[in-house]
Amino acid sequence: NPPKLQVGESSLLKLANCRSKGGAPGFKVAVLGAAGGIGQPLAMLMKMNPLVSVLHLYDVVNAPGVTADISHMNTGAVVRGFLGQQQLENALTGMDLVIIPAGVPRKPGMTRDDLFNINAGIVRTLCEGIAKCCPDAIVNVISNPVNSTVPIAAEVFKKAGTYNPKRLLGVTTLDVVRANTFVAEVLGIDPREVNVPVVGGHAGVTILPLLSQVKPPCSFTYEEISYLTDRIQNGGTEVVEAKAGAGSATLSMAYAASKFADACLRGLRGDADVVECSFVASQVTELPFFATKVRLGRSGAEEIFPLGPLNESERVGLEKAKKELAGSIQKGVSFITK
Ligand code: NAI
Repeated sequence: NPPKLQVGESSLLKLANCRSKGGAPGFKVAVLGAAGGIGQPLAMLMKMNPLVSVLHLYDVVNAPGVTADISHMNTGAVVRGFLGQQQLENALTGMDLVIIPAGVPRKPGMTRDDLFNINAGIVRTLCEGIAKCCPDAIVNVISNPVNSTVPIAAEVFKKAGTYNPKRLLGVTTLDVVRANTFVAEVLGIDPREVNVPVVGGHAGVTILPLLSQVKPPCSFTYEEISYLTDRIQNGGTEVVEAKAGAGSATLSMAYAASKFADACLRGLRGDADVVECSFVASQVTELPFFATKVRLGRSGAEEIFPLGPLNESERVGLEKAKKELAGSIQKGVSFITK
């Protein structure tokens, strides 16, 4: 028989608390939907993040297995698992950052909006828990359709009297990650050196890459612009079709979500100039929500940057994006207020 000796959770937590009180910061992070295709690799990446001292993994299935597995990684974060609705409140209490990849993904032939009926209810339930147990947490919404689930979350928080628009962030980082990769391929340079702002929303034509603002500065032919715009807008569908019924992007999404969560944590720590694109409450356009570059700080999205100069084709794209976004936002709002 193996020896029964186990390190008690209390001593691990003591360690985590020392870490957060001492020099190095430590944040408490929950992943809701942690046993899913995105949730599992995202949980692993968050366990590897030195800014995380406590990691709560919540799901309605398989949370104990994923937790046991990840807890064996010899990194600093203390990992705890929570299974089922009756453990949601314990999962959320005291969290600084809550990441939500819970819900069903697309199958070939589906749009993100086809997921609305199932995912809207899941996001509502989870956000009611957040409003009750950690109303001051930063919330990263991954569940699709993001263009509607972020407005749903906002309405739930308004109803509960806890809404702070700076702390509610829709995750559109995968669009930026894809844009950087595809643009780097066309330019023949290292994707880590490329930065493409992607604005609007997170579905089809609402995904608007601003190719005129790419860093490092460069120019594209008409054909390159139409190839890149189309590929960036349909990158998700490319993966859905390649997976042929087994789901949508999970590994690249977990990478993107972890990159965005890390930026949120660096903002919370007080780092200067942490800037990422995100779908947030916004006055950049006449719509109540819009994705643009935001500066992340101690209170969340502290500054929302304007669109900057757009060329003619981007202006046309913006009008198309706004038209579709308006409907998706309204659909989310009325899911709660109707
Ligand atoms: P998945 O089906 O592999 O995993 C979803 C997980 O959520 C499952 O483990 C499931 O048990 C869990 N879940 C279901 N109901 C729950 C509830 N009430 N509370 C907690 N957990 C619950 O799906 P996958 O591939 O991980 O995708 C998750 C979501 O992320 C989908 O809505 C998908 O469309 C979205 N997504 C968003 C992207 C973005 O860029 N924002 C990119 C890719 C996917």
